[in-house]
Amino acid sequence: MHYGADYNPEQWPEEVWPEDVARMREAGVTMVSLGIFSWARIQPSEHEFDFEWLDRIIGLLHDGGIAVDLATATASPPPWATVAYPEMLAADENGTPYWHGSRQHYAPSSPAYRKLAAALVTRIAERYAQHPAVVLWHVNNEYGCHLNIDYSDAARDAFRSWLQNRYGSVEALNDAWGTMFWSQRYGSFAEVFPPRHAPYSHNPGQLLDYRRFTSDMLFECYRMERDIIRAAGALQPITTNFMGAFKPVNYAQWAAELDVISDDLYPDPNDPEGFREGAFHGDLMRSLKPGTPWLLMEQASNAVNWRPSNAPKAPGQLAAQSLQAVARGADGILFFQWRQSRAGSEKFHSGMLPHAGTETRTWREVVALGRTLGDLPALPADDGSARVAILLDWENWWAIENPDHPTSLDYLSLVRGWYDAAHRLHVQVDLVPPTADLSRYRAVIAPHLYLLTEQAAANLSGFVDGGGHLLVTAFTDVVDTNDRFRTGGFGTQLRRLLGVVVEDFGALVAPASSGPGQQQVQVSGGGFAFPGSLLAEEVQAVDAEVLAGFDGGRQDGMPGLTARRRGAGSAYYLATVPDDDGARQVLQHLFGAAQVQPVLPGLPPTVEAIRRGRLLTVINYGDEAVDVEVQGLDAVDGRAVSKVSLQPFGYALVLTDA
Ligand code: GLA
Repeated sequence: MHYGADYNPEQWPEEVWPEDVARMREAGVTMVSLGIFSWARIQPSEHEFDFEWLDRIIGLLHDGGIAVDLATATASPPPWATVAYPEMLAADENGTPYWHGSRQHYAPSSPAYRKLAAALVTRIAERYAQHPAVVLWHVNNEYGCHLNIDYSDAARDAFRSWLQNRYGSVEALNDAWGTMFWSQRYGSFAEVFPPRHAPYSHNPGQLLDYRRFTSDMLFECYRMERDIIRAAGALQPITTNFMGAFKPVNYAQWAAELDVISDDLYPDPNDPEGFREGAFHGDLMRSLKPGTPWLLMEQASNAVNWRPSNAPKAPGQLAAQSLQAVARGADGILFFQWRQSRAGSEKFHSGMLPHAGTETRTWREVVALGRTLGDLPALPADDGSARVAILLDWENWWAIENPDHPTSLDYLSLVRGWYDAAHRLHVQVDLVPPTADLSRYRAVIAPHLYLLTEQAAANLSGFVDGGGHLLVTAFTDVVDTNDRFRTGGFGTQLRRLLGVVVEDFGALVAPASSGPGQQQVQVSGGGFAFPGSLLAEEVQAVDAEVLAGFDGGRQDGMPGLTARRRGAGSAYYLATVPDDDGARQVLQHLFGAAQVQPVLPGLPPTVEAIRRGRLLTVINYGDEAVDVEVQGLDAVDGRAVSKVSLQPFGYALVLTDA
């Protein structure tokens, strides 16, 4: 179990370093991420490298028994680089450059950036590949975090090559994008540009491809650095830090090429539902690379600096959030950052070692957490205990959020709606792509798969044929991989599986425009009663049982929720977006059919129970103390346990037989 932080010794005089190492030992730190923003210090000018300071701090850490997650330092090019090679600056959709003076201002597709980054990584990797302190490589930092999309000339040129590679001919590109619409036909790849500022809507196929291209350019940067590290003979695992479900980067695609998944997590301490964000992150990270423990690479020990108002963490919140990650498969709890900065825009961001010193609650909680983590037994990565999967697909995310749709949908919040409902029911879930092997699951929730590939459609049918219980929700199976309608209407691939035909989408005025304009539709019948919003599709149940119908409004009497049994399995279709309680009603029905049980029965919604092998973690995020019955041995001190009393942010770590 790793414990540690980003460590930025270059921000401090060298006299501070030995104290840092001593304090790290006191806190139980086992590993630090070094060099993430050290490019300017390592390479003060193009032909000058200075590694002596880095040798010294790595040596100090090593002597102190602290391992190093060594960064490649490529996330923030120094000013000399962008002055010498201004073509490596990223640009906004007007083509205006992002200048240096902050960070992440580079164009990922820029040959100049890649050349400089490659030279830097080569030097670092060759120097430290065999160093015994280095146990992990940290490529770049939070790819795409600030710079979601780059519209620079470097991106323009790279996009043309990317398209040439994808389509082979400009005729194929024209066909994929449907450019006969609005006279958009291209005569050559050289006529194509990034979707820069335009008077009105861009071509949706182009927007979707630009999302793919953006993720691919960052992926190329990652793989370039990874390959350089390997070519230098390094044998340590390699990672780059993810940010939960992050739209610009297709983590599901990247995961196969990371040895270890790592994640950065910053829920707002003020948000009483923030713990569900932590749960969602953890379940996603575990699911990205089944069987391999992941690392919580960054979190805050207390407040951050980047919200309009930055609440401190409540007493105990830090340990609760950290153990929530361990419960979901994390084998490392790390922070941004070790010592709070004294200058720069993050000086108000908490660190493990606060600016106010060690006579602080933060320091005491940091030290206590280090002890708890150090006392935990070795844990399996993932025992495969989730029997429910929620499908999450990046390409669908990009496509469903293209403009000019019946209504605007926020895909992540819709997926989160289902996730949160399952979480409140204390049912453990995985978050997997629609083409994943679904055979270990009894129930699968497929929210809004607007872009549904043929492989995914076949996978869903196969799951139900094999006895699985599937829930498909509105606005699914609408377009192909180029965001074009398939011929033959909507839902063409899942029509037989679901036994329903979708005639129209029945958009409702969105809740975002709250007040009198907001439209809802009632779904009732068969024990269901809940309001739907956003969509109330006009659906014919041609070969399915209608469990509940729309009650009132334009769709009055039409099917709202249908079921089609197929052998031991069943396929449900929900033609609207339910509220929280509606999602709970639908999931209770689905889980009943699939015989899925909660991890522990009878828990309030602000308490969670998670299983990781023999370790059962129970955490109370509510305002009131709760008693929970659970049999086993306390994982830290070995005492027999039959009932635990949990204060707010209290937790129990119990080794059970099951
Ligand atoms: C991100 C970055 C860190 C730091 C933190 C602050 O996670 O990776 O460098 O800026 O945010 O919360």
